[in-house]
Amino acid sequence: MTPEHLGFHHRHDGLWCDDVRLADVARAFETPCYVYSMARLNFQLDRFGRAFKNMNVLPCYAAKANNNPAILSHIAACSSLPWGMDAVSAGELKAGLAAGFSPGRMIFSGVGKKDAEIEFAVEHDIVLNVESLFELEGIIAIAKSRRKRARIGLRVNPDVDAHTHPKITTGKKKNKFGLSGSMIELALKRILETGEFIRLCGVSAHIGSQITDVSAWRIAAGHLVQLTDSISESGHEGLEFIDFGGGFPVRYEGETEPPGIEAFANAIRDAQACARLASTKNLRIIVEPGRWVVAESGGLLTSVIGVKEHFVVVDASMTELIRPALYEARHEIVFEGHHELAAQGDCFDIVGPVCESSDVLAQDIRLNSFPKKNQLAVILQAGAYGFTMASHYNLRPLPPEIVVKQDLMALTRHRQNL
Ligand code: LLP
Repeated sequence: MTPEHLGFHHRHDGLWCDDVRLADVARAFETPCYVYSMARLNFQLDRFGRAFKNMNVLPCYAAKANNNPAILSHIAACSSLPWGMDAVSAGELKAGLAAGFSPGRMIFSGVGKKDAEIEFAVEHDIVLNVESLFELEGIIAIAKSRRKRARIGLRVNPDVDAHTHPKITTGKKKNKFGLSGSMIELALKRILETGEFIRLCGVSAHIGSQITDVSAWRIAAGHLVQLTDSISESGHEGLEFIDFGGGFPVRYEGETEPPGIEAFANAIRDAQACARLASTKNLRIIVEPGRWVVAESGGLLTSVIGVKEHFVVVDASMTELIRPALYEARHEIVFEGHHELAAQGDCFDIVGPVCESSDVLAQDIRLNSFPKKNQLAVILQAGAYGFTMASHYNLRPLPPEIVVKQDLMALTRHRQNL
C-alpha cells in the first residue's frame, strides 16, 4: 500500500479505507458505523517505537480511547515493542486481559475505584495508581484480608496547567485527580508503616489530554523526577517506574500541526537526565497514550438523509460521536465525490437526527455541490473517544465497528440495541 493509501482517502471511484471501498462497508453493515484502518494503527505503533528507541519504556495504551477488542489485541500483540494497558474500570481491566495484555504490564487508574475493582486488581497483581488517602486505606485493607502485597503507584497532582480544553485538564489543583502536597507526605508515611501489604512501585501524573504545549508537559515530568528522587531518599526502596501519563495530541480540523510524539519523548529523556540519583535516571518510563495511538485510524461512516436550507442531515449524530457537542471539537468531514472542500460554494452545517440543538457534527463546511440523499461521508480523527463515548440517547443503537486490514473488512462489534 502506498502512503497516500494509508487510512481514509479518495480515489477516482470514491472513498476508501486502506484497500476497502467505503461504499462496500456501507452496503455490508449500513451506516452509521465506525471503520478502523489497521495500516494507520500500525503506522502509529511504528512511529512510537522509533520515538522512544533506546529508552527503557513501557507504553501503557489508555483503553478508554478505544476499547474495540480487535484493536486491543492488535496493540497487545505489537511485535516491535511490548505494550501494556492503562485501565480505569474492572470492565477495561477484563477487556485488557482478554485481549492478551499481561497483568504485569497493566496499570489501574481512576479516582473512584470500588472495592470489587480493587480486589480484582490485587488478585491479578496489577499496579493500582492510588489517587487518594481513602483509596490507599481501602487497598491496604483488601491486601491484608487477601494476604497479598498490593503493587501501587502514587498518582500526584502537580498543579500544572496543561493549556488544553478545560474539560480535559486534569493536573490542576482544582481538578479531582491525584494526590497533592501534604496528602503525598501522609500517603508515603502510611506506605512505610504498612509495607507488609503495600509495595510502592512508582509515581505517576497525567495533566490532561490533547496537550499541545510541550513545556507544560516538561514541567510535570520534571516534577515527577524530583519527587522520585526525594521518595527514594526518604527510605522507600524498590521503585520500578515513573509514569508520565498520556495526553499526546493529534491534529483536528482547522488546527496547526501539533508537536509530535518525538518532542514528548525528548522531554522525558531530558527530565530523567536531570535526576539527582542514578537509580532515578535508570527507572523504567511508563507513558499512557490513548488518543495519539488510535484517533487517526478511525472514521465514522455516515450517509446523507436529506438537505434543508444549509443543514445537511446525516444518519450519524452526537450519540455516535459526542466530541463536537461536548468539547466544541472540530473533526474533518469528507463527502464522497467532493475531493476538496471548495473555497467558494455553499456553506453547510452537518447535523444528526438527535433531538438536541447541539447535535451538530461539523459547522460551516463548504461543498462544491449539494449533497444528495444516501451520499456517503466520513468523519475523521474519530478513532479516539468516538465509540467509547457513544450512548443510546433517543433509544438509538450503538454503531457497529468494522476493522479494515488491507483489502479485508471484518465486523468486530455488532450494532447494539438496548
Ligand atoms: N491516562 C490517564 C490517567 C487518563 O485519564 C487519560 C485520559 C489518559 C491516560 C489518556 O489520555 P490521551 O493520551 O488519550 O490524551 N474524552 C476526551 C478525552 C478524555 C481523556 C481522559 N483521560 C476527549 O474526547 O477529548
